[in-house]
Amino acid sequence: MKILILNGPNLNLLGKREPEKYGNRSFEDFFDELKSDFKEFDLYYFQSNIEGEIINKIHEIGFSYDGIVLNAGAYTHTSIAIADAIAAIKTPVVEVHISNVHARETFRHHSYISSVCKGIIVGFGLESYTLALKYFTKK
Ligand code: DQA
Repeated sequence: MKILILNGPNLNLLGKREPEKYGNRSFEDFFDELKSDFKEFDLYYFQSNIEGEIINKIHEIGFSYDGIVLNAGAYTHTSIAIADAIAAIKTPVVEVHISNVHARETFRHHSYISSVCKGIIVGFGLESYTLALKYFTKK
């Protein structure tokens, strides 16, 4: 199974960015662990700070991959265009967030993408990605 982990804006700074909210670990380091924990998958990783690049990636792989684990970062709360891209493809998308967005500012409580995703995993730190990948092991 081919699975893409797709991270949006500012998630390239994981490990350095607000560690009290997002932890001390870089995503590259965590991704190595995921690859060894989920050897049954062909796991890929893409990060962009640019909305259009995220949309292009969703289009590019959205008819051939078996799953996408998406942390759209702040675009979660703003992007109808990413929601439309998810609705347009065949590949199921699981929305993840590191922090519990519902325990934070009210502008983080609404997600434009949740309704077009298969499911949502929120607030378990980097473990949110692990839980999302576990969903795909059952497929
Ligand atoms: C986030 C939550 C978003 O509100 C925020 O803009 C992020 C990270 C999370 O993983 O907790 O960039 O998606």
